[in-house]
Amino acid sequence: MTARVLDGKALATEVRARIAADVAALTDEHGVVPGLAAVLVGEDPASQVYVGMKHRASEAAGMVSRQIVLPDDTAQEGLERVVRDLNEDEEIDGILVQLPLPDHLDPRPVQELITPDKDVDALNPYTAGRLAVGDPTFLSCTPYGVLEILDHAGVEVAGANVVIVGRSNLVGRPLSVMLTLKGRDATVTLAHSRTRDLAAVCRQADVLIAAVGVAGLVTADMVSPGTVVIDVGTNRGDDGKLVGDVAYDEVAEVADAITPVPGGVGPMTVTMLLQNTLEAARARRGLPRR
Ligand code: GUN
Repeated sequence: MTARVLDGKALATEVRARIAADVAALTDEHGVVPGLAAVLVGEDPASQVYVGMKHRASEAAGMVSRQIVLPDDTAQEGLERVVRDLNEDEEIDGILVQLPLPDHLDPRPVQELITPDKDVDALNPYTAGRLAVGDPTFLSCTPYGVLEILDHAGVEVAGANVVIVGRSNLVGRPLSVMLTLKGRDATVTLAHSRTRDLAAVCRQADVLIAAVGVAGLVTADMVSPGTVVIDVGTNRGDDGKLVGDVAYDEVAEVADAITPVPGGVGPMTVTMLLQNTLEAARARRGLPRR
């Protein structure tokens, strides 16, 4: 049997249309145009592509989009000054500093500087801590997108065994917390490079989420029939093509449902950034969440 394909691109189109309508209503009713600032340091080609996508998507949703491109040799103080200015900028509701930064820059103090009410990327330790104590403000965009895909596909995670492979701050760790919040109630295993017998751990999963950044790591022998497989990987193959962490063709023969790469989680990451920016614009003006 071939798995049902969970089409993140189609879902993103649907959700973005709803966000654009909400932005239009906010502008009509309150004269507010949500503003997103994306800071890119250096010339990493993948980061240029991602920031470009965020820019176009936020403009298409009716937001103000500001791209701040800084040279590769920007000093730590210079980057921090840009963030401080954006914190004070009334036109800006959401700030993100694209990762990875050049090696000489330390992302931690930069993330800590972003004011929590504009932390739409949810990488400030305050924001992460609010999630960890079960009272989240913003949800980081990729894990938030994964939750939306699961919800939309009607996958019940309460009580289910969810195995996440990869413990990054960007995806695996916050996603493990989100899935164990009251109301979601999944039983989560957070697997990583030191996990013993990864294949056996993965075979226990009802929902298997791969977020390690190793092309084709998850093979068919690691997936039990009936599993829902979410592939967060975005790796470049030798031919320059985007490939996931899951060996798609063989796993699709075993799984119940699977996200493709590209066209799965990626488009939802950008979409949830827009959602967070809209929520930030409302919250900063004392308007209730929708
Ligand atoms: N680099 C890859 N993914 C992300 C993300 O979600 N946010 C930021 N800031 N950088 C990234």
